[in-house]
Parts: sequence; C-alpha cells; structure tokens
Amino acid sequence: MTYKIAMVAQKGGVGKSTLARIIAVESAKGGLQTKIADLDTQQTTSTNWAARRATNGLEPPIRAEAFRSVDVALQDALNFDLYIFDGAPHSSAETQAACRSADMVVIPTSEGLDDLHPSVLLANNLLKAGIPANKVAFALCITSDSTREIANARAYLAQTPYAVLDGEIPFRAAFKTAMDQGKAITETSFPTLRKRADAMAQSIIDAVVAAAEREVA
Ligand SMILES: Nc1ncnc2c1ncn2[C@@H]1O[C@H](COP(=O)(O)OP(=O)(O)O)[C@@H](O)[C@H]1O
Ligand SMILES: [Mg+2]
Repeated sequence: MTYKIAMVAQKGGVGKSTLARIIAVESAKGGLQTKIADLDTQQTTSTNWAARRATNGLEPPIRAEAFRSVDVALQDALNFDLYIFDGAPHSSAETQAACRSADMVVIPTSEGLDDLHPSVLLANNLLKAGIPANKVAFALCITSDSTREIANARAYLAQTPYAVLDGEIPFRAAFKTAMDQGKAITETSFPTLRKRADAMAQSIIDAVVAAAEREVA
C-alpha cells in the first residue's frame, strides 16, 4: 500500500514545497521508499531542490520528479511506500485529482486573514468536489511570532470542519538557508528550530496514518 499525501494551496509561496520536503526527508530517514511528485511544472522547485541535495551529497537522497498529469504520477506511486504531491501555485483540475487520490490533504497557511480566507475557500471547494472534510488539514506555516495572532487563527479555523495540525513553522531566515542547501527544514543546524520543524513533521505523519487507517476501516 502506498500512503499518499497532497500539499496544496490557492497561492504560491505559502509552504507547500517546504512541507513536502520535510515529509520526504523524515519518512526516507525512517526507511520508507519515498518520492515527491512535483506538480509545479513551471518552476519545479522541489525537483531543483532534490538536485541541490544530491549535489551537496546529503543523505538520504530524495527522489523528485515533475508530473504534468496526476494519472501518470499515480502509476509511478505504486513503486513507493509514501508519495507526496507538491501542488502547483494555484489549485487546478490536476491539484483536485491529486487531492482525490490522497489519504491526506495538507493546506499550509499563514495566520493572517489574507491567507486564512483563501485557504478555507480551497478546503470548501475540495469538499464540494467530494473530498471528505476529515481528509483535509491546515498547517500554520511562515507565521509570525505572535502567540495571540496564532491563537486567533486557530480559533478561526476551528469553526471550519477541517483539522488544524499541531505546531507552527515560523518565518526564519535559517529555514530558507537550509532549503537553499538542499536540506529539509528538519535538518537545520539550529536545535530550537529543528524541534519546531520536527513537531510539524510528526503532526503530518500522524494525520496521514490516521486518515489511511480510517479509509481501511
Ligand atoms: N518558515 C519559513 N521561514 C523562512 N522562509 C521560508 C519558510 N517556509 C518557506 N520559506 C521560503 O518561502 C518560499 C516559499 O516557500 P515554499 O515552501 O516554496 O512555498 P510554495 O511551495 O507554497 O510556493 C521559499 O523561498 C522558501 O524557501
Ligand atoms: Mg512550491
């Protein structure tokens, strides 16, 4: 069986590829055969990142490949334990197909209303398209350090039928630096930051396993 997870958003620059890389690296470290299907065929940022990772000799190497068609990617997915769809900047028919096939859909969003609103709209559109609410979760990414703002965002999202994952990924230059080097943000050399990234990785993995178990039941 292949676990499938989709990182999607209505916007670019919200953390889809960042989350895809965390899960790819942490699951590969755990011994799973893992791959990122990069649906951003214009920019192929995750494919380029995996190449930087290989150039810098980082272990484990991560497979990533750009796919125009989710159907073609799904054939490829059969060869892996965990398959991660890294969504295009805007939601498209292909994004929707990826979400439909996934055990879990993660929507990264910052804590401002300008980000929360389109994130909830996207989740609602997925629900209308037949993707169950319990397969969709928000992940607070590129946040500020304001605990009040974050609490407000959690309260806002709690009114929706979708879960909000535990933990947040704050904006930090060190996270960007890590990814520039081909690392996942869980591989940053700063222990406090690593802890924050690890917590998010664990939340996502718990959510995908729980969702897959619900499907089997
Ligand atoms: N927590 C963070 N702190 C600092 N920079 C970040 C953080 N998360 C992502 N970035 C940077 O922000 C940009 C957008 O993130 P990315 O994950 O590529 O978003 P998306 O895939 O949604 O377009 C990238 O340049 C990435 O390196
Ligand atoms: Mg991206």
